[in-house]
Amino acid sequence: MIVLGLETSCDDTGVAVFDTARGLRAHQLYSQSRMHAEYGGVVPELASRDHIRKLLPLVREVLADADIGFRDLQGVAYTTGPGLAGALLVGTAIGRSLAYAWGIPAVGVHHMEGHLLAPMLEPDPPAFPFLALLVSGGHTLLADVQGIGRYQILGESIDDAVGEAFDKTAKLLGLGYPGGPAIAQAAGHGTAGRFRFPRPMTDRPGLDFSFSGLKTAVLTAAQSRVLDAHTIGDIALAFQEAAVETLVIKCDRALQQTGHARLVVAGGVGANQLLRAQLRHLGAKLSVRVHYPRPEFCTDNGAMIAYAGAVRLQAGQFEALRFGARPRWSLTELTTL
Ligand code: KG4
Ligand code: ZN
Repeated sequence: MIVLGLETSCDDTGVAVFDTARGLRAHQLYSQSRMHAEYGGVVPELASRDHIRKLLPLVREVLADADIGFRDLQGVAYTTGPGLAGALLVGTAIGRSLAYAWGIPAVGVHHMEGHLLAPMLEPDPPAFPFLALLVSGGHTLLADVQGIGRYQILGESIDDAVGEAFDKTAKLLGLGYPGGPAIAQAAGHGTAGRFRFPRPMTDRPGLDFSFSGLKTAVLTAAQSRVLDAHTIGDIALAFQEAAVETLVIKCDRALQQTGHARLVVAGGVGANQLLRAQLRHLGAKLSVRVHYPRPEFCTDNGAMIAYAGAVRLQAGQFEALRFGARPRWSLTELTTL
């Protein structure tokens, strides 16, 4: 089955073609980050308008890259939620309409299920069951994954998502948007040991996270100092260490608690090299296989949506002739396959 996937939940327009027989055929991403950088964060209305401009041209390019025409497609998948309502509506309206015009089934995909299944696009994909660490700009959660749609949330952030903490810290340090890659780069020039920030909620049992206190600790450190390049590097390094170590401590705990032999890491923060290295280390310690998507499929992309949609369409799941966005939508509400 050949499926077109569309991702428009936030500030990336992603389009891909996934073929259940031959794998990923083509994918493209248009990032709006330069446009939003001017405002220090995503401006929802600008995001929606830009998705409208970019989506159809990207669909044409991706079909050409895959060397197919629309008549070869057997389904269309698009992100229905969670995310920005207006941005989601662009993808769902266009995706549902294309499927109607082409006379093929359509399916709405949960953005976080897309992230969670992204490692399936890699050679040697993880088998079920596994523990998943989902770390993005909007979510930080640990889930017990028994199969498609069988997700039990073991812990999640009670306030900011870890990606949001990276973005806010970067803004505070004047490093711009998006913050994750900027912090990682600045940390590369930092010196260890000058600052030490808290590892929130690691001193008590449980698998929930909290990142707003860490952000405040960075603010306090930054406010009382001149933010020269050295200090920015030192703070970025200490922040990244604290955020990563917090995630690693909780993964260690969750792996020991569940006894899972596989850990899947996905979502934008999963592109972070320090996190990847430290989780690889944890995996070696616990004899757990750690699976990541390639970095470009950690952050938002159309390939993961095409894949997740293809799996659901193949199982006979599709939408009625209507569309709607679900800006708030829990992973635990998905149907199981
Ligand atoms: O999954 P994603 O692309 O979009 C959402 O679903 O939110 O994740 C975006 C988040 C942003 O907060 C961004 O700063 C963070 O992922 N991010 C990173 C890195 N690359 C992206 N955080 C840390 N290190 C990175 N290399
Ligand atoms: Zn995402």
